[in-house]
Amino acid sequence: MSSNHQNVSIKGQSTDFPLSFEEWEKKASSLMQEGGYSYARSSAGREETARRNVEAFGKWAIVPRMLSNVSDMDLSVTLFGRTYGHPFLIAPVGVQKLAHPEGELATARAAAAMNIPFILSTVASHSIEEVAAAAPDGSKWFQLYWSSNEDISFSMVERAEKAGYEAIVVTVDTIMPGFREGDIRNQFSPISKGLGKANYINDPVFMKALPNHDEASIVASLLENMYTPALHWKHIAKLKEKTKLPVLLKGILHPEDALTALEYGVDGIIVSNHGGRQLDGTIATIDALPAIAEAVQKRMPILLDSGIRRGTDAVKALALGADSVLIGRPFLYGLASNGQQGVEKVLERLFQETELTLALSGIPDLSQMGRLKMVRD
Ligand SMILES: Cc1cc2nc3c(=O)[nH]c(=O)nc-3n(C[C@H](O)[C@H](O)[C@H](O)COP(=O)(O)O)c2cc1C
Repeated sequence: MSSNHQNVSIKGQSTDFPLSFEEWEKKASSLMQEGGYSYARSSAGREETARRNVEAFGKWAIVPRMLSNVSDMDLSVTLFGRTYGHPFLIAPVGVQKLAHPEGELATARAAAAMNIPFILSTVASHSIEEVAAAAPDGSKWFQLYWSSNEDISFSMVERAEKAGYEAIVVTVDTIMPGFREGDIRNQFSPISKGLGKANYINDPVFMKALPNHDEASIVASLLENMYTPALHWKHIAKLKEKTKLPVLLKGILHPEDALTALEYGVDGIIVSNHGGRQLDGTIATIDALPAIAEAVQKRMPILLDSGIRRGTDAVKALALGADSVLIGRPFLYGLASNGQQGVEKVLERLFQETELTLALSGIPDLSQMGRLKMVRD
């Protein structure tokens, strides 16, 4: 065997698959169609937010603890009564058929196999019910893009409840689409192509409200429903009355909004800037987290996404007050590269690096995160 092809194996990890995020991205970009890859990669405006998300992790440094006996590592975390093996979730990412023909079905199966929650997007290429059938035992949460016809929102939430989903994630940073130059240049909108309509065409309230059932009317109505500039806290109050499931808000960056969420009885928040795809020029999520954690004082779970690329990033987020983190583009590139197995490999590597980072930092389980000091350049 030539040294290039040696099966370098560290704790079961081989080099048969890409290792770093950059390598997965390179592989995905060679396999995906240009418009689809550009849609996945691109962010809004000058892509300042997207860049800052990643760079900001490099500005935070771990001050590790020694002599802590880390021979027995336990990375489990409990969220809304269910315990998961690792502090990760699959972020809601729309139209996953762009990455792989099995789309969300493959990702949901991977999440179930790895014992972490899968969050299904409103604009998924497979419906709430199809995903539930594909991964019946896995933990599934439903991400809601509020509909301007709010009865559609409530109908989707009811379907998610019936299909066994365990939480509702309302994305609050996407009341209109961001200014993504890559997509404008390529004239590429998977939603306009009808690739994200599965949850709408399977919704009785949406279909009933449609004047015509042809493709063009479906897409036009879907886009109209997604435009929700009037979205307000009062809608969240109404949703809380309609569902028994925990409600989380995704897209919170300001501590005052976190406090208002608590006042409205919201059950958790996701500190997110949508991977820089919505508002360009925002604070990096890892920089927004400390003030939010300080305001919330552990009164509800805080999750975080945008820019998590390695286990060290996850550990920094956990040390600064997150209970768990969401993986976005990294899993999508795993899906594009190798389907379900690719997603599992991406997660496996993240889990392994997270465990190693915690062990070398002297933290054997997540209840001890408070012992880890973080400093910023
Ligand atoms: C291609 C793509 C599609 C996305 N679709 C959705 C979506 O439908 N709903 C949503 O709430 N967030 C969506 N997001 C945002 C992710 O949930 C997450 O916030 C983001 O990917 C985090 O940034 P990162 O991937 O750079 O780490 C999408 C992200 C990407 C890359």
